[in-house]
Amino acid sequence: MEGSPTVSRSSPRAALARPPGPRSVRPFLGVLPHFRKDPPGYLLSVAREYGDLAYMRLGPQHAYVVSHPDAIRDILVTNQSNFTKSRILERAKVLLGEGLLTSEGDLHTRQRRLVQPAFHRDRLIGYAADMVACAEQASGQYQPGVEIDMHREMTRLTLAIVGRTLFSADVASDADQIGAAMTQILSLFDTLLVPFSEWLQKLPLPSVRRFEKARAQLDRIVYGLIADRRAHPGDTGDLLSMLLLSQDEDDHSGMTDKQVRDEALTHLIAGHETTANALTWTWYLLSQNPDVEARLHAELDRVLGGRLPSFDDLSRLPCTTGVFAEALRLFPPAWAIGRRASEDYSIDGYTIPARSILLMSPWVVHRDPRWWTQGDAQPERVDPARWDPEAVAQRPKFAFFPFGGGTRVCIGERFAWAEGVLVLATVAQHWKMRLVPGHPVATQAVITLRPRHGMKMTLQSRTG
Ligand code: HEM
Repeated sequence: MEGSPTVSRSSPRAALARPPGPRSVRPFLGVLPHFRKDPPGYLLSVAREYGDLAYMRLGPQHAYVVSHPDAIRDILVTNQSNFTKSRILERAKVLLGEGLLTSEGDLHTRQRRLVQPAFHRDRLIGYAADMVACAEQASGQYQPGVEIDMHREMTRLTLAIVGRTLFSADVASDADQIGAAMTQILSLFDTLLVPFSEWLQKLPLPSVRRFEKARAQLDRIVYGLIADRRAHPGDTGDLLSMLLLSQDEDDHSGMTDKQVRDEALTHLIAGHETTANALTWTWYLLSQNPDVEARLHAELDRVLGGRLPSFDDLSRLPCTTGVFAEALRLFPPAWAIGRRASEDYSIDGYTIPARSILLMSPWVVHRDPRWWTQGDAQPERVDPARWDPEAVAQRPKFAFFPFGGGTRVCIGERFAWAEGVLVLATVAQHWKMRLVPGHPVATQAVITLRPRHGMKMTLQSRTG
């Protein structure tokens, strides 16, 4: 493998000085003013200029940008016990409390074990039918020639799916409220890297009030789901039942409403925001690559011939899977994954001091020409053939890591693949989406990678 760095826990005697990296532009802020303008673009330029390991000052944080797949594997998997989640996810506790995404240590291990059965293969088979039913219902309401905001549509659809599968509930009617609350919340997270933001968040600023209001709206919805279920107890086998029926191994106590709320809200948010973005970018990429779109349609017509897809079809739709994979590659919803070192750590002879932040960006690594140039095709080119098994075997595993890795790997990974491919297969049998001329397309990287101006598209019927 090319340029593989040596990665290990630190041996301070051999440590070199800091790795190269961009100079701070302001005291206290470091490179933050540049970084905040376009975080993924900035990380990409840092990696291109300074290589697989770069140092920069990000506000009060000492940050290291790690861009080699092997070093990423060692941080996320091999040496994962030396790391905790970084500041952004720690701060996400103001919204998510101690849910799976934000908790650490024993609590995380216990909760993960508890919710894992909700993602087993036999449960996914049932979810697949719900995913297709929701997609078919949405697709049945589309009208040819009509202009829609695809991001809003995909948010509604993925919320309907997560509500039905994990909560046996219809949250579609709350979709616009949840969507608006998420936009408010994410805009506050935009300021989280700024020095002293913890204190700013305690002031009665308009942005803080909007955040509190949005959080209260989400709480109302989630506590409503919990109250409904407590009023009609019983095991429906979904995630909410698992949470409500769980008992501590030692004292057999159940979870409090607050604990159930944290876990339920975490799954409601993590389970729709990411897939909504991934699907929106998929429709965008298809609209820009008619040759790829034609290959997708040919596969759907050949394999499905007009019928609805099912779980068993997932393995028969390699091109559809490749299209969704290309969207996850070029527009990874989790555009950066952060960790904080608990002890000194060394990469390639450099010592990374304890408490430093390590930033690993799928946006950067998924565009690295070392792994993603194929023949004449540059990394930016969309090509589902990159996902042929022989091509995959040529690349280091962590050249593609949209779902992270190790014990903190996304619990919904298989759910998300099934959802992405089945939604695409259901809707693209009937519809083509075309970008509205002049609509500006730009990314907005907050915690997820959203389309900054939404995604205005016109619906075209494929079947006339
Ligand atoms: C395309 C869709 C998705 C992407 C790209 C994605 C990405 C990720 C990533 C990168 C992480 C790890 C973060 C870290 O290590 O710091 C993660 C964790 C998580 N994801 Fe996803 N996710 C997706 C869909 C889902 C879905 C559908 C669900 C639930 C239904 C979900 C629930 C979670 C949860 C609960 C965690 C925390 C796991 C833990 O720490 O044990 N995600 N996701």
